[in-house]
Amino acid sequence: MIRDSHEQDVGAIQAIYAHHVLQGVASFEEVPPDMDEIRRRRRDVLDRGLPHLVVEQDRRVLGFAYAAPYRLRTAYRFTLEDSIYLAPDVLGKGHGRALLRRLVELCSQDGFRQMVAVIGDSGNAASIALHASLGFERVGLLTGVGFKFGGWVDSVLMQRPLGPGNRTLPPPGPNHRTLPDTASPPS
Ligand SMILES: CC(C)(COP(=O)(O)OP(=O)(O)OC[C@H]1O[C@@H](n2cnc3c(N)ncnc32)[C@H](O)[C@@H]1OP(=O)(O)O)[C@@H](O)C(=O)NCCC(=O)NCCS
Repeated sequence: MIRDSHEQDVGAIQAIYAHHVLQGVASFEEVPPDMDEIRRRRRDVLDRGLPHLVVEQDRRVLGFAYAAPYRLRTAYRFTLEDSIYLAPDVLGKGHGRALLRRLVELCSQDGFRQMVAVIGDSGNAASIALHASLGFERVGLLTGVGFKFGGWVDSVLMQRPLGPGNRTLPPPGPNHRTLPDTASPPS
């Protein structure tokens, strides 16, 4: 089941994310954020009106995904970046695809126009395949922009349009999606 995350899910989300911070290079963080920080990041996403989802099975949270501003300068306001992490024992079973598909659906319905994935590392076959299977195209490679576990780490950039993408203009006039460029990113 894919659903909105709840405050009570923060412990499970923190544990899943901490695993990937400590064991892999998908995240460029090196010290796992604690529960208070995960709670703050989730609240920041929700305060922006963006989706923060979990996949749940037999009352266990198996993974999470959320959308955040791609960048905070206001002209980026129709572009989002996705984040998605699953528990290590449930990889490759289709949960990632279900979660990301729902995230894309919700963000498209909400009038956003582009979604960007910043994927660590070039060898992250699962994430690259997941995004490709949902219509993301590889648009760039930032070589060696990270350094983790004693080695250089690339960022693979993938992108897909949401809704009409850049084929039409957004509705005219100011709207609530004008994100202040002074706010701190959810990371
Ligand atoms: C990346 C991740 C979210 C994908 O979720 P998942 O549930 O494992 O992937 P799914 O089973 O939904 O598979 C999605 C697609 O990727 C492919 N895939 C999954 N794992 C793969 C692997 N190890 N190698 C190659 N392809 C893989 C599947 O075949 C599927 O493609 P298809 O739809 O064309 O058949 C998950 O593996 C994960 O949490 N990885 C660690 C953290 C991470 O890298 N997060 C992404 C940060 S950018």
